[in-house]
Amino acid sequence: MVRAKIDGIYVFTLNLVVHPDYRHRGIGRRLFELVEEQALGVDGVFAIIGHAASTHIDFYATSGLRPVSRLTVISNRVNV
Ligand SMILES: CC(C)(COP(=O)(O)OP(=O)(O)OC[C@H]1O[C@@H](n2cnc3c(N)ncnc32)[C@H](O)[C@@H]1OP(=O)(O)O)[C@@H](O)C(=O)NCCC(=O)NCCS
Repeated sequence: MVRAKIDGIYVFTLNLVVHPDYRHRGIGRRLFELVEEQALGVDGVFAIIGHAASTHIDFYATSGLRPVSRLTVISNRVNV
């Protein structure tokens, strides 16, 4: 499940969760790609992480995002 808010300028990925029985199969990465595909032309893609767990940051890092604050990561692909 992924929930994102697109306001025309930015995309905020708020929740991205894969059922524990289906993790490590590329589903999480694909869900984030679907968000990015909806984000053509925006100025930035952010993901709000629930808490500052390094695993969350590591997961988003595999999709090219980097931390910009304790609870936020941003895609390097501006205007994806
Ligand atoms: C984080 C989460 C969404 C990943 O979903 P997933 O379907 O297992 O992820 P993928 O299989 O697409 O993994 C993509 C890459 O992210 C990295 N990754 C995935 N889970 C990771 C973890 N727990 N810790 C560190 N890196 C992780 C891996 O490098 C992985 O690539 P690899 O399988 O080739 O090594 C899933 O573990 C989850 O639902 N966690 C609980 C909720 C959560 O933390 N949401 C994210 C922040 S709100």
